[in-house]
Amino acid sequence: MRGPRVYDRLFEQVLVRMDAEQAHHLTYQALQRGGPVLTRTARLAGTPVVAMGLRFPNRLGLAAGFDKTAQVWDRMPAFGFGHVEIGTVTALAQPGNPQPRLFRLPADRAIVNRRGFNNDGAVAVAERLAARRHRPGAMVLGINIGKSKVVPDDDQAAVEADYEVSAKLLAPLADYLVVNVSSPNTPGLRNLQAVERLAPLLAHVRRVADAAAPDRPGGPVPLLVKIAPDLADDDVLAVADMALDLGLAGIIATNTTIARDGLRSPSSTVEGCGAGGLSGAPLRERATEVVRLLRARVGDELTLIGVGGIDTPDDARERVEAGADLVQVYSGLIYGGPAWPRRVAQQL
Ligand code: FNR
Repeated sequence: MRGPRVYDRLFEQVLVRMDAEQAHHLTYQALQRGGPVLTRTARLAGTPVVAMGLRFPNRLGLAAGFDKTAQVWDRMPAFGFGHVEIGTVTALAQPGNPQPRLFRLPADRAIVNRRGFNNDGAVAVAERLAARRHRPGAMVLGINIGKSKVVPDDDQAAVEADYEVSAKLLAPLADYLVVNVSSPNTPGLRNLQAVERLAPLLAHVRRVADAAAPDRPGGPVPLLVKIAPDLADDDVLAVADMALDLGLAGIIATNTTIARDGLRSPSSTVEGCGAGGLSGAPLRERATEVVRLLRARVGDELTLIGVGGIDTPDDARERVEAGADLVQVYSGLIYGGPAWPRRVAQQL
């Protein structure tokens, strides 16, 4: 257990004293530099599974938001990840919100972020991915797409045209494609979760993706939607029914929450973070509940990716028992360190 203790000390004495975004940048740069070694060093544990027609080397993935610009995804199997979801990528390159926009709540093993889809845009990400394909079977690459900030959320045609740009460029490069309508940091984005908005958007992305990659080996790219934990149960079920109607491959549950209930951190600290999405341990219960609800509704017809508040190997196992085929983590990696994902994967 030497590795984890070393990371705990590094976290407590160095990382936690740095601005959270700066710590992320340092980690990201280290991953970029370590590329040649890390890309050859898959340290996968756990059992392979087949979902959405894809072979996943194990059930554990890195959630969207860590590799927004597609520069380190192929290093992540070295830490035990069988799949990585890059993004969110938007059609237009955009800077995101002003900093600071990323905060830790260590007493809750939680994070608040309002990064606001800072990314290089779909053209740059597509070029980068085209230059660095992975060996099929070695890992699975998901691509998560979202709305550019400047596009008004109440203009359905403009929203569809915006997602179309990303879907056209990125569907041919993805093992699976995710439509993200659940981040709290793009104003109005979550209004797209209403099924009367979501169904035509997803149908449009489906058509565009199919036209962009007509001869894709293995058939049409699996299409998923990622939802918020803040949806009422009835709305979760409505999305489930819609996903079945449209023949989606699956649902990712959940994104971050705008709720701040039951936190241990002092309220002044929590308020000091300001607006944004809360992730990490406090999300576990609701994210698990959403997976359970979805599984009860869809039977075994859809793939469910469970994400939110997985902080221990037991949490990951519980998520699978609740009905998730695959699980993803983000905040747990920040608190657990580089040796942690492999320990989680081992239990799955
Ligand atoms: C995220 N998440 C996220 N999700 C998404 O679909 N697109 C994104 O761009 C981001 N960006 C992002 C940035 C940061 C800093 C964090 C912490 C999270 C949400 C993430 O993928 C996941 O759904 C939640 O964080 C819940 O999982 P954890 O962190 O509790 O394991």
